[in-house]
Amino acid sequence: MAKLWAGRTDAALNQAADDFNASIRFDSRMYRQDIAGSLAHAEMLGKTGILPAGDVAAIQNGLRGILADLESGALAVDPSSEDIHMFVEAELTRRIGEAGKRLHTARSRNDQVATDLRLYLRERTETILEKTRALAEALLEQAAQHAETILPGYTHLQRAQPVTFGHHLLAYCSMLLRDMGRMRGAAKRMNQSPLGACALAGTTYPIDRQMTAALLGFDVPCANSLDAVSDRDFCAELCAAWSILMMHLSRLSEEILLWSSWEFHFITLDDAFTTGSSIMPQKKNSDMAELARGKTGRVYGDLMGTLTMLKGLPLAYDKDMQEDKEAAFDAADTVEACLTVLAPMVATWTAHPAAMRRAAENGFMGATDCADYLTRQGVPFRTAYKITGQIVRECIERGVTLETLPLEAYQSFSPLFGEDIYAAISLDACVARRTSEGGTAPDSVRRQIKAMKELLENA
Ligand code: ARG
Repeated sequence: MAKLWAGRTDAALNQAADDFNASIRFDSRMYRQDIAGSLAHAEMLGKTGILPAGDVAAIQNGLRGILADLESGALAVDPSSEDIHMFVEAELTRRIGEAGKRLHTARSRNDQVATDLRLYLRERTETILEKTRALAEALLEQAAQHAETILPGYTHLQRAQPVTFGHHLLAYCSMLLRDMGRMRGAAKRMNQSPLGACALAGTTYPIDRQMTAALLGFDVPCANSLDAVSDRDFCAELCAAWSILMMHLSRLSEEILLWSSWEFHFITLDDAFTTGSSIMPQKKNSDMAELARGKTGRVYGDLMGTLTMLKGLPLAYDKDMQEDKEAAFDAADTVEACLTVLAPMVATWTAHPAAMRRAAENGFMGATDCADYLTRQGVPFRTAYKITGQIVRECIERGVTLETLPLEAYQSFSPLFGEDIYAAISLDACVARRTSEGGTAPDSVRRQIKAMKELLENA
């Protein structure tokens, strides 16, 4: 397609150079935002008297027609265009003639692309926020069903203390709530209008940046025109928020994979979220959880690519910045896809409380509570800790558990042990006593669910 910027040169590009330069392949997905930005810009040019009303009407009708035809499929984006901005402007001029050539008055592609990208990512962030909310709700729902289901809590992937499954799932809700906060914060900072910064220095035309900002739903115009066209903090910030979100999804995926293995058998995934093997007839694999874990690396890559691309750039716009879009788009697509599959996967799994309990019964997880039992009778904690360690060793030598070690054996370590030690170290008692704020007791879990539901409503 002929270059709108031909003039200084005849713009007869080497084919490879032209292909290399073009961004239409990936920026055409911003066509709605590009047209919205142009509609607002034209409106402002009319209101300020920079363009006559007749031209503005022709431009706006033309732009609406282009939008309708792109939506209906009557018009396709020309892949030989340099970018979406050039395509829309050229198509407008093809449709309405001279007036189309006036649209770019007091505007540059530099403020145009920065505006389009903010509008586009604003929309994507809203969708991702809603999908994050859906996953958090699925986790909350499972947590409510399993406020009393006991399973081993781990540190170093070694059985540590019994916890409730609900409590464990709520940990992920807490992470997702922070992720939502990070996205909201980034979206808020992004919501400033670059339009009217023009190429870099502003313009001599009497434009109204407040007006275009308001028309496009931005909070305010960006304060500095050089910053407005060179700032891509919002890409980095969103990719960072999405990277952290992916890190959480990856940890959840890893646990889903562990829990659904035969070794744990804590949950069974619904068949709709598993695959088979081409050779091993017995297999039921959790590919989707693995992919979510694997795709985390892509989003980190998008973040690192963006930060590295920006780090050496002099003000203001540099063409390097065209690289911002593929990274941000890939990150948004990846995060959205992972959330879309994880939320129903969590909502439909079947938990196996009996298997969880069996796992919790082995592993001496009542040991801390055994030590606390002595401590409550005046033994210093460190001493009680040591006695209990010796008792665990005795259990291992005898091949029994803390629950089945005879009382005389306990008493050979300390005369303070009585029959009530068994109640003190029972799994249910260990869990039920941890009523501290944020703790694992069913009552505490129910309080957390209530609080997180409220937080989620306002997130
Ligand atoms: N396609 C370009 C980009 O994505 C649009 C801005 C081009 N500006 C320029 N001065 N060449 O960054």
